[in-house]
Amino acid sequence: MDTPGSLSQEIYDVVGIGFGPSNLSLAVALEEQGASSAQHPVTSHFFERQPRFGWHRNMVLPSTTMQISFLKDLATFRNPQSRFSFISFLHASNRLVQFVNNQDFFPTRQEFHQYLEWAAAGLSDRVSYGTEVTAIRPVTEPGATTAGLLEVEARDAHGTVSVVTARNVAISTGLVPRLPQGVTSDERVWHSSEFLSRFNAQDPAGLKSVAVVGAGQSAAEITRFLHDKLPHAQVCAVIPSYGYSVADDTPFANQVFDPTAVDDYYYGTENAREAFWRYHRNTNYSVVDSDVIRALYQRVYDEQVSGAKRLDFRNLTRVAEVRRAGDLTRVVLRSLLDDSAEELAVDALVFATGYDSLDPARLLGGTDRYFLRDAAGRHRVERDYRLVSTPELSSGVYLQGGTEHSHGLSSSLLSNIAVRSGEVADSIVLRRTQRELDRPLSGDISPSVA
Ligand code: FDA
Ligand code: NAP
Repeated sequence: MDTPGSLSQEIYDVVGIGFGPSNLSLAVALEEQGASSAQHPVTSHFFERQPRFGWHRNMVLPSTTMQISFLKDLATFRNPQSRFSFISFLHASNRLVQFVNNQDFFPTRQEFHQYLEWAAAGLSDRVSYGTEVTAIRPVTEPGATTAGLLEVEARDAHGTVSVVTARNVAISTGLVPRLPQGVTSDERVWHSSEFLSRFNAQDPAGLKSVAVVGAGQSAAEITRFLHDKLPHAQVCAVIPSYGYSVADDTPFANQVFDPTAVDDYYYGTENAREAFWRYHRNTNYSVVDSDVIRALYQRVYDEQVSGAKRLDFRNLTRVAEVRRAGDLTRVVLRSLLDDSAEELAVDALVFATGYDSLDPARLLGGTDRYFLRDAAGRHRVERDYRLVSTPELSSGVYLQGGTEHSHGLSSSLLSNIAVRSGEVADSIVLRRTQRELDRPLSGDISPSVA
């Protein structure tokens, strides 16, 4: 099979699948690990299906801000002296002084995207963009008793397939957009993950009535955006709760995202883990930052004052059905108040209905049979984020994401990526050292005589 020029025929220590912030952070950790071990750096290559670096580009809406401090960047919590820190980026962009004057811990998503692109550009020699990994297969080397290698198959935008070999893979393919059962997206029905590209493909004058489904951060941001951008349109927010709930980002609750919380969760009892979710789910899911809530309520109030109402909230309401015919979209809403149904005709319907978490089985296919599961059917994951495998497989599959059940709430977020990536890099080095120590000496080396 063909191999793109940038790929070598060597056996990589690790191949990363996906090059979003998590694996970008791993590339940074490996780079910095290599700098301190120049004789024996970890060799790596990453595959990214997007044609260039991009982090939730379709949600980079005006004025949207990060939900983490700028110090929770790709590296700082692991290595405050990293040249890949957000502060280094500001310095390189000649904006450090102004950033400090601005006195805000939470950059805009636009600026954080610039930072991530800047960091990715610094590591572009080890990434194949526009290349999607399609399969992972175990390989047993001649004379070996276990499969110590993995073959990673990838297809580029021209359909060219390449295969590389690695001792480990790091799967970091991100969240998977979720639509209600029976709903499919098209040019009039969108998931929030495709929002900007769908919106920009429309003539705004043709959008006279739009609806947004959901009560999370994505839904609130999109509702605000549509209300701003479509001054002539009716905007309907379909929310399952009685009103948006605030995201708890107060200091004590925020401790659930601390690096040490991973140990508390991982080694905690089932009851402890359940308590994390029961008490702190509202730090992240189905919740909205208070400034966005206030901005929306202000609009509602202003419309009451002016008497020109076009922002409409359907509380305690879920979507029951979507009917599509040509340009016509009809959505059936069911009120939880009295179980009544109402049909609404809209020009665009946005489902900000969240995401499913990364499931490695999708990519592993038949190779998934080598990985053990717990009593609830979830993958067993070691503390170093390595999937637990049967004895036949000695190569490593690491997860960055998809470990909420084992490592807790920060698994799908940015909060802990610097430390997590460092732990994955350390594990790869440690296990390589162990393997090299265990390996029998090759024939041409005679035992030394004291
Ligand atoms: P991410 O999804 O970013 O990257 C995965 C990459 O893998 C993608 O680039 C994808 O193209 C690629 N890929 C997938 N399958 C592939 C394959 N088979 N082959 C090759 N490439 C493949 N969290 C937080 O802590 N603070 C925040 O402010 C935000 N903000 C935020 C905004 C929005 C709009 C969303 C939807 C989510 C957030 N999050 C967040 C949570 C979010 O999960 C997090 O910011 C990161 O995107 C996680 O980075 P990952 O690299 O793990 O996934
Ligand atoms: P989310 O928090 O999971 O919210 C999904 C919402 O959709 C919930 O309110 C859910 O209600 C609702 N929903 C699901 N099915 C529905 C139906 N059939 N009818 C009506 N409502 C329905 O998803 P999200 O808002 O996309 O957020 C995902 C992640 O991205 C979070 O980590 C968030 O913080 C992050 N994010 C960050 C930013 C930013 O940094 N500025 C912006 C956007 C998103 P239930 O609660 O009943 O399930």
